[in-house]
Amino acid sequence: MDCFVITGGNRLRGQVTIKGSKNAALPIMAASILTEGETVLKGVPELADVEHLSFILEKLGVAVMRDEQRNIRLKVEDEMNCLAEYELVRKMRASVCVMGPLLAKRRYARVSLPGGCNIGDRPIGLHLQGMEALGGETELVSGDIHVKAKRLKGAEIFMGGPFGSTVLGTANVMMAACLAEGTTVIESAACEPEVVDLADYLNACGAGITGHGTPRITIEGVKSLHGCEYTVIPDRIESGTFMVAAAITNGDVKLANCRLDHLLAVVDRLRAIGVNVERDGDGAQISSSRHLEPVSVTTQPYPGFPTDLQAQFMALLSLAGGNSIVTEKIFPDRFVHVAELNRMGARLRKEGPTVIVEGVKQLVGAPVMASDLRASAALVMAGLCAKGQTKIARVYHIDRGYEHIEERLTALGADIKRLPE
Ligand code: EPZ
Repeated sequence: MDCFVITGGNRLRGQVTIKGSKNAALPIMAASILTEGETVLKGVPELADVEHLSFILEKLGVAVMRDEQRNIRLKVEDEMNCLAEYELVRKMRASVCVMGPLLAKRRYARVSLPGGCNIGDRPIGLHLQGMEALGGETELVSGDIHVKAKRLKGAEIFMGGPFGSTVLGTANVMMAACLAEGTTVIESAACEPEVVDLADYLNACGAGITGHGTPRITIEGVKSLHGCEYTVIPDRIESGTFMVAAAITNGDVKLANCRLDHLLAVVDRLRAIGVNVERDGDGAQISSSRHLEPVSVTTQPYPGFPTDLQAQFMALLSLAGGNSIVTEKIFPDRFVHVAELNRMGARLRKEGPTVIVEGVKQLVGAPVMASDLRASAALVMAGLCAKGQTKIARVYHIDRGYEHIEERLTALGADIKRLPE
């Protein structure tokens, strides 16, 4: 296993190009199960999670390869196997997004029930409600969900849960509804840009989806879907992470290929903190003076503040001149980064789904442990500005969602090295 060794204090300067969205690419790759013919995906980042889903799709009879232009090519060659097994699903909960396409195209899916993970419980009851509403019969057998259907029929489906809508639940139902007979309406659908990107891909394959990006999505079922060539959207969470990296080091960084329109809530909080964010062509210029203002941050479903940037912002607010309040409304247990940041001199106090962040003058480097993707990114942010050296163990967590992050931070002037642990 590798670790990162970071010596803090360098101000980041220069330009970084944002890669394609992991959370758009994964369900779009799964959606290729629905199609006849080849799909060519452009802008898919080179990440462990993409490799992992490619492996799962290969076992499901989809030929997946990266061509010489680094595009991902997918083509269904064999529809016999419909099992996404526990050993594979437990490593990546997003694997559950093969369920809808398998049910719609092959009339059967057997997907291991994802366990919990470091950010909290990961139930899929809303996914299953959606499959049943379309005519699927579900059964839990030894930890695997079996879903089967003679045919799928369009329905009105409510996808709201106790924590708002579900992103991959909306994706699963939308994919299944593409090949159902008749019209499906998803009420309280997730509005995330990644769901919009999936719908745009499916429409490019011949689907009849409207309303994506709003809480009501309508899907007119079609007989079949063909392949297509498609470019995934830039990764808004990677964009937000690099914005925090620029701000926390009092740097001045240009983000190229950054969709500011996907980051309105994030830019709102950055500006409230005192970080300068300017639109610059297809991207943004981020700069920060030394003084950071304390603010309140509450995570919400899109277009609210994204839960996937909560940990990174907590690292930034650890250095604000006063007390900030961070409330997590999507994954109330998503605070594994709190103890690690406190080891670096942050003053964080958890009160249920809220953390009181008492700003400190400086963080101090320390050996810390990565645990989940975004918590690990927060530790990198803290290491970039901490006094002295920070060693982050188990950085494979970071490799799941950020492509060569240490090389790209080094190019901006950071002192960060990947070493064998
Ligand atoms: C997606 O996960 C993202 N992953 C997550 O990003 C992101 O944090 C999350 O959406 C919320 O925005 C991918 O897109 C691959 P949810 P998803 O279903 O779809 C509850 C990252 O770091 N819920 O929208 O699995 C659930 O417990 C990852 O890139 C139910 O109650 O999340 C949570 O509290 C981490 N019942 C809330 O809804 C269900 O059936 C939102 O979860 C499903 C979910």
